[in-house]
Amino acid sequence: MKDRQENSAAPAGRCAIVIFGAAGDLTRRKLIPALYNLAEGGLLPDEFAIVGFARRLDDEEFRRQLRDEARRHLTGEFRQEIWDWLDSRVYRVIGDLSDPEAYVQLKETLAKVDEERGTGGNYLYYMSTPPSFFSEIPRQLNQVGLAREAEGRWRRVVIEKPFGRDLDSARSLNRELLEVLDESQIYRIDHYLGKETVQNILVFRFANAIFEPIWNRRYVDHVQISVAERVDVGTRGGYYDHAGALRDMVPNHLFQLLALIAMEPPVSFEADAVRNEKGKIFRAINPIEPDEVLDEAVRGQYGDGTMPDGERVMAYRSAERVAPDSATETYVALKLMVDNWRWAGVPFYLRTGKSLPKRVTEIAIQFKSVPLMLFEKTPIDELEPNVLVLRIQPDEGISLSFGAKVPGPVMRIGGVDMDFCNANYFDATPATGYETLLYDCMKGDANLFQRGDNAEAAWSVVNPILDVWSALTPRDFPNYTAGSWGPEAADELMRCDGRAWRKL
Ligand SMILES: NC(=O)c1ccc[n+]([C@@H]2O[C@H](COP(=O)([O-])OP(=O)(O)OC[C@H]3O[C@@H](n4cnc5c(N)ncnc54)[C@H](OP(=O)(O)O)[C@@H]3O)[C@@H](O)[C@H]2O)c1
Repeated sequence: MKDRQENSAAPAGRCAIVIFGAAGDLTRRKLIPALYNLAEGGLLPDEFAIVGFARRLDDEEFRRQLRDEARRHLTGEFRQEIWDWLDSRVYRVIGDLSDPEAYVQLKETLAKVDEERGTGGNYLYYMSTPPSFFSEIPRQLNQVGLAREAEGRWRRVVIEKPFGRDLDSARSLNRELLEVLDESQIYRIDHYLGKETVQNILVFRFANAIFEPIWNRRYVDHVQISVAERVDVGTRGGYYDHAGALRDMVPNHLFQLLALIAMEPPVSFEADAVRNEKGKIFRAINPIEPDEVLDEAVRGQYGDGTMPDGERVMAYRSAERVAPDSATETYVALKLMVDNWRWAGVPFYLRTGKSLPKRVTEIAIQFKSVPLMLFEKTPIDELEPNVLVLRIQPDEGISLSFGAKVPGPVMRIGGVDMDFCNANYFDATPATGYETLLYDCMKGDANLFQRGDNAEAAWSVVNPILDVWSALTPRDFPNYTAGSWGPEAADELMRCDGRAWRKL
């Protein structure tokens, strides 16, 4: 398009994106606004089309819904000319995902799209559907010849989370996908990796010389990874009550953060070089033995409570489509050990939960205390250790805390911060977090996507916990009030090690 914003990156190559589940929540809230932002940034090619696959909605209704929802969920200003550019490239297929006839129609539509839009037979299939269709859709695509790549034309499939619900189902899903696709065609998305500050972790570690020498067991006491959600389960009870916090957050988002912190420098930024290093971390995590689960993994469920701003929150068990005696956890805290040369003996504490007082995601690397107390003869009896905090959301940035002398005649030490806030240095481009991921898929860069073997390795770590928890129903649920920082047992997990969770 002519009126493109300046952008140093080149537009993706010609292609069509086929969105299965085109009338769903994810498409409306994230995918369409992300495509709009890419169009505005000049990152979509002229030879581009969006094919929406939905089971109802006539053409006009479909376009209207996309436009209205895009307007509602857009991260920046709505510009009619950008929308018109996208709208002229929208096509639609009506059908049921399990109906082979619908895929024949899809094939015909794509042939028309190639002819009218010059998309060259390159298709990105985005499965924004219930997980039960994740292997069915590629199988059906293969039946009509839409899955096979050939010289000069690519076919890629994006799979949303959840990628399986335990190790066995993740293995089966991988096996089924690999019957019709090559691993290089599969893009397992984790939208956390679309966040700028998550991508910045590798830059921070490997583009700066001063941190890497102390990034190991000799200097680091422990690492805390916290993903606190202020929201309750809302209307997602139908899905969430069968998943829970461990499945929903840990093998994907939290493990990706852990891997970025713990991995060795890759030999290059090629997708497989990075993913090989991440995989080594998942394999190095010491599996929690069944008899250790109750000591090293804490689960919680929120009861009625009040948020700091006074908002009343009803107990999880009263939410829509949640069983009144549900044993599903809405909070999880874990202690994991990464058994490799760099991290032996350094605990990684992970916590995530719903209905906590604030929405915060951060990684805190706490360094060891000084070896010798030089200030014994002064009023200072304890020095705070240095902490490096990588803030992922909401105010993205990095801070390093250290001790400084408080001015005055008496020797006193106060904790101070060196603080870097992304927004103060860089113009923030409003984004949904899906822009980079969609753009990378179109470019064929799988760096930010999970590889099948790594997804399985991550499930191997959490599977023993799932097994023990499902065998031993919790007796104390609900065990934290909405608006608090989680169950007492999570504090105890840290206290046993002589440590404490950071105040977020
Ligand atoms: N929403 C999010 O923020 C989010 C975040 C992370 C991951 N995800 C994952 O993304 C996927 C989509 O989530 P969502 O929240 O968008 O779910 P959703 O709102 O329920 O959308 C799913 C879509 O699939 C369509 N569908 C279901 N069965 C179908 C069938 N037999 N034939 C044709 N279409 C069918 C539905 O069509 P109808 O509209 O006709 O019912 C609906 O539009 C899920 O796997 C979810 O776990 C979502």
